[in-house]
Amino acid sequence: MKAAVLEHYGDPSEFVIKTLNAPTISDGQILVRNRATSVNPVDAMIRAGAFRVASGLFGDQIIGSDFCGIVLESRSTRFKTGDEVYGAVPPTNGAAYASEVAADEDVVALKPATISFAEAAALPVVALTAYQALLQGNLTAGGHVLINGCTGGVGCAAVQLAKHMGATVTGTCSPAHNEAANELGCDTVLDYDKPLPANQQYDLIFDTAGKLILSDVEPHLKEDALLITTKPDTEGFSRTLSTLVDLVKPRMKIIAMEANTADLTTLKELVEQGKLKSYVARTFPLEQMEQAHRLLEAGDFVSKIAISID
Ligand SMILES: NC(=O)c1ccc[n+]([C@@H]2O[C@H](COP(=O)([O-])OP(=O)(O)OC[C@H]3O[C@@H](n4cnc5c(N)ncnc54)[C@H](OP(=O)(O)O)[C@@H]3O)[C@@H](O)[C@H]2O)c1
Repeated sequence: MKAAVLEHYGDPSEFVIKTLNAPTISDGQILVRNRATSVNPVDAMIRAGAFRVASGLFGDQIIGSDFCGIVLESRSTRFKTGDEVYGAVPPTNGAAYASEVAADEDVVALKPATISFAEAAALPVVALTAYQALLQGNLTAGGHVLINGCTGGVGCAAVQLAKHMGATVTGTCSPAHNEAANELGCDTVLDYDKPLPANQQYDLIFDTAGKLILSDVEPHLKEDALLITTKPDTEGFSRTLSTLVDLVKPRMKIIAMEANTADLTTLKELVEQGKLKSYVARTFPLEQMEQAHRLLEAGDFVSKIAISID
């Protein structure tokens, strides 16, 4: 199989395209001829060596989480050879930056039939995160959610899913992405560098960017409303400490996305019903993983970067 391999941890130039043996599968797993993957911010951290105990200490490492392709071999009772599937393997060692991927049946669902492999591969991590955060945040029809960072991968999915749930959506983004935020369906768009409107309160604040601590927004939370974040704010010692203290309080939670067939199937159905669109800013071939990671780190795009695998 073909893979974008890290011979060493480091900057994006460390990716090397190699031909390696395909993974073997055990009971409950499928082997997928992977047609597309996508890059996520955590991939850049893993590439740089932040989690090397989990991603491997020595030798060739293949990272990547999102995948979409065709089942080549099945030791699962749920999926058969020839099925078109998508899903998310663990980002540290799931090895989705490759033309063949072994996946547990639990992290796979049938691919949305109405979109391309690349569009489907751009969904699992971000859409599962958004979906599970909105559910954990008890968002219901008629509620008002503030989505901080509404035009990134998680944000694009969160805006659409919140609108589908019948909520009013206020999204924050940089001024450069204002138009994109409106197109996504936000009812109100705010600059994330400006203070929130005085006296405005929300039923849920979902911080996709991991930039807020509770004291930044507590007056803007209705009674019993939650601040849900994707990661602790680590900008300086005092905010890192505040986040850690906030996370033991009942009003702030960190989402820990869990890939599962049921949620992936719900997302597939929403895509097929036209309720959830996969926005892809740019698709690179696997051979250009270096350029894809450079763009990911530059952050100068809306939504997602997909990778096609011939
Ligand atoms: N906990 C989990 O299970 C989980 C799962 C998935 C992702 N994550 C994490 O969630 C984060 C977002 O992922 P992603 O894929 O959506 O990343 P992304 O596509 O890079 O999006 C990041 C977004 O943050 C916005 N942003 C930047 N600075 C901001 C600020 N000061 N205030 C508010 N928004 C700001 C950006 O807006 P502009 O482009 O307009 O500047 C962009 O829309 C990453 O840290 C990722 O690792 C966690």
